[in-house]
Amino acid sequence: MGFLLKIGETFAGGRVEKEVGESSSSEVYLVSHPGRGHLAIKVFKRIEQDPDQLKPLLDKARIQQQFRHKNIVRIYDAGMNEHHLGDLGCIAMEYFSGGSLATLLDSRRAKQGKRLSARKTVEIIEQICNGLSAFHGAGHVHGDIKPENILVDLVNKRTDEVRYCVADFGLGKAGDPTTEFYQPPERFREERTDSFASDVWAVGVICYQLLTLEFPFRVKEFLPQGRDPFDEGLKPASGINRSVNPSLDEIIAKALCADPDQRYQTATELLAALGQWRHSLPGTERYR
Ligand SMILES: Nc1ncnc2c1ncn2[C@@H]1O[C@H](COP(=O)(O)OP(=O)(O)O)[C@@H](O)[C@H]1O
Ligand SMILES: [Mg+2]
Repeated sequence: MGFLLKIGETFAGGRVEKEVGESSSSEVYLVSHPGRGHLAIKVFKRIEQDPDQLKPLLDKARIQQQFRHKNIVRIYDAGMNEHHLGDLGCIAMEYFSGGSLATLLDSRRAKQGKRLSARKTVEIIEQICNGLSAFHGAGHVHGDIKPENILVDLVNKRTDEVRYCVADFGLGKAGDPTTEFYQPPERFREERTDSFASDVWAVGVICYQLLTLEFPFRVKEFLPQGRDPFDEGLKPASGINRSVNPSLDEIIAKALCADPDQRYQTATELLAALGQWRHSLPGTERYR
């Protein structure tokens, strides 16, 4: 571990202001740029700097760069930047001062387990599905949906308006411990690894977590092939969070079906189900 860039140094034409976060494969910095203002720059760690490893990562970032969507993190550049350690492969993107959904979950757990309401959760999940649905519509599986990759933009503190954005398309790394919890059972069976339905599964896990502050499953010890998670003893979210009704439980169950063919097939399908759920609520609940 350790950080490649130093605070105060010049990098990619800007000044490195602070370290924002890191993972096994990359480090993220806040950089202030004279022309572009605040940017987040992700620098790949040394192993990923190998040109063969780097190329697919930069290619994926360039695909994300083509999207202009309010729920997809905007990428400005993906390529090499000069550095005294040698040229470094990196990605310049929009900076999110609100942290990620992982930060939000941590702070909720710290506040004596303050769970999110069903209405608030669905609002967040719909935004995630909106961004993801643009990827799916263009034929791309995201492959690494997890709370760390949903970034939070506090648009308007007064009105409480918050934008949730999908980050890091295609940058998932097998074996990364933060990723494992969001992998569907078929990934552990090493069959049909990448499908839109595997992204749907990950969104289902996040939804369950926001409502209950618990993981629906313990990794690798769940779900014989084709079994319904709730037949296997998964506690419905409504049993943990009183703002959840059984029709929302049903949507979560369908997103978390062991059999990928029984899930919503794309984020767009899940989004439609959530929209219907919201519209079925009594008026006061719907708009509160
Ligand atoms: N564009 C960004 N703006 C603000 N924070 C970010 C941004 N991208 C990533 N981060 C933060 O940096 C952390 C490390 O990011 P990353 O290297 O992608 O690993 P991971 O997503 O596995 O945590 C993230 O958890 C997130 O909190
Ligand atoms: Mg990430």
